[in-house]
Amino acid sequence: MNVLVFDTYEELSAAAGQMYVRLLQQKPDCVLGFATGSTPLGLYRFLAEQNQKGVVDFSRVTTFNLDEYYPMDPAHDQSYRYFMNKNLFDNINIDKANTFVPDGTAKDCTKVGAAYDQAIEAHGGIDLQLLGVGRNGHIGFNEPDTALVAGTHVTDLTDDTIDANARFFEKKEDVPTKAITMGMGTIMKARQIVCIISGKNKHEVVKALQNDLVTTDCPATFLKMHPNVTILCDKEAYEG
Ligand code: F6R
Repeated sequence: MNVLVFDTYEELSAAAGQMYVRLLQQKPDCVLGFATGSTPLGLYRFLAEQNQKGVVDFSRVTTFNLDEYYPMDPAHDQSYRYFMNKNLFDNINIDKANTFVPDGTAKDCTKVGAAYDQAIEAHGGIDLQLLGVGRNGHIGFNEPDTALVAGTHVTDLTDDTIDANARFFEKKEDVPTKAITMGMGTIMKARQIVCIISGKNKHEVVKALQNDLVTTDCPATFLKMHPNVTILCDKEAYEG
């Protein structure tokens, strides 16, 4: 695991962005795994700028997002589909038909979860998966638990995650209590992973990534078993 520390969030975002620039130039039809939340916003702005300057082209790219609230209508302004359109897809030359977000309206979630994993496989697998981490160590919405799930599935959100995400809603009671998320196996199958971590409140997770333990209490520690992970963090997250 390669850990890189940056003075500022802007530098972290640009460094993550350069990884995408390199990949997009080498493999214009790559498959990208994307995340939502606050941390990727700087990276998404960077990618939109690079696309507008003509440095990168998304016309042949396919994307799979990590997760979506459940139940959630994609048209809702707090859905992750809405977030991705607004913060990235509307600002780059991607064909939205090639962008996939787990279906928050699914009736049969087991079937829909398995189909999502199969669709990733059918596209040749994810070349570069972006991750943020929850302050409780979740990746995607794989929350700390006694056991973790391999494939894409519906899960309960922990109170800590509901609390952390309440900032995006009018009140905490409006935050969905479930999500449909790629599982740990889906994430670990990506050929390369870039994990971006910003802010003091993520310091405990950064610490957990630096020892040699792998524990379901902190799902991000599973990244230690992946052969190609880069952790980019800002000084605040690294030093606490
Ligand atoms: C979002 C996701 C989550 C977030 C995490 C950090 O798609 O999968 O794991 O990456 O909750 O969120 P922020 O960046 O808002 O702190």
